[in-house]
Amino acid sequence: MRPSLHQLRVFEAVARLRSFTAAAQELHLAQPTVSVQMRELAGNIGLPLFEQQGRRTALTAAGEALLEAARSMFDTWAAFEMTVGELKGARRGKLRLAAVTTAEYFVPALLAPFARAYPGVDVSLAVENRDAVVERLRQDADDFTIMMMPPVELRLAVLPFLDNPLVALAPRDHPLTRRRRVPLQTLAAEPLLVREKGSGTRMASEQFFAEHRLLPNVRMELGSNEAIKHAVAAGLGCAILSQHTVGRTPERDGLAVLGVEHMPIRRSWYLVRREGRAETPVTRAFLAYMKARQDDAPAARETKRLDRADGSSQSVRRRSHVA
Ligand code: PGA
Repeated sequence: MRPSLHQLRVFEAVARLRSFTAAAQELHLAQPTVSVQMRELAGNIGLPLFEQQGRRTALTAAGEALLEAARSMFDTWAAFEMTVGELKGARRGKLRLAAVTTAEYFVPALLAPFARAYPGVDVSLAVENRDAVVERLRQDADDFTIMMMPPVELRLAVLPFLDNPLVALAPRDHPLTRRRRVPLQTLAAEPLLVREKGSGTRMASEQFFAEHRLLPNVRMELGSNEAIKHAVAAGLGCAILSQHTVGRTPERDGLAVLGVEHMPIRRSWYLVRREGRAETPVTRAFLAYMKARQDDAPAARETKRLDRADGSSQSVRRRSHVA
């Protein structure tokens, strides 16, 4: 059996319109051409496809079965054409991203494989603290935002994709580095260096101390993670920062991670998008790329499990996940 796609299209028109003449008109073909095509198709299949019932053209059982097969083939083909169209569309375009400052330690490495796969896509990345990033979200300025604490007051779709443990840092030679387990009160009583107001890191540590009914001994406020790392290394105090700011080798920066009870503070990085924001082939491609990465993140898996456990689409942060 070797029916051609063209024969199947002619057949579908005849079957739908129940008329050789109407099908010929619709397809801008001569009526005898339609008849020849249908004879060849029936010959190919080895059974008659149509029968005359008075003046009406009706389908035989084989014709009915072929119509079903042809329609599902056309559907599959249409889906394939759409995918190809999207792949072509995603080759060029813009991707506007915003990330909180703490994300700058891993976002470039995260974006690199995507940028290599889509060299025609123009990627822009704005890096600001949480307050500024939330303002951009409010204005719907970016396709996606990467942050730790998505604001609850906006309707957002979120995708957790990476763990973000917040750790307590001390100078490398601080006496507390010799203790296996530092009580949280002890850390709260140490002079602490904190980020500026509007920083998500600061907000998360304030929430953490409040949950444990402790008042931290804030010694100094500094406007960036790097400034805090240098100040801690210089012996000005301790600090709570994302583990991503020091990587696996804090000692290279003159720092040590303290073994404080209830720590690290377990947070996640989220890919965030305003609900209802128009999609483009590029944003769809980027979302698919990030979802593939999500499966590598233990925290993300845990969040997904929690989602399933309560049987709703609400995540731990009470919002829908990026579909
Ligand atoms: P930030 O980042 O402290 O740089 O604002 C943390 C966050 O908000 O996710």
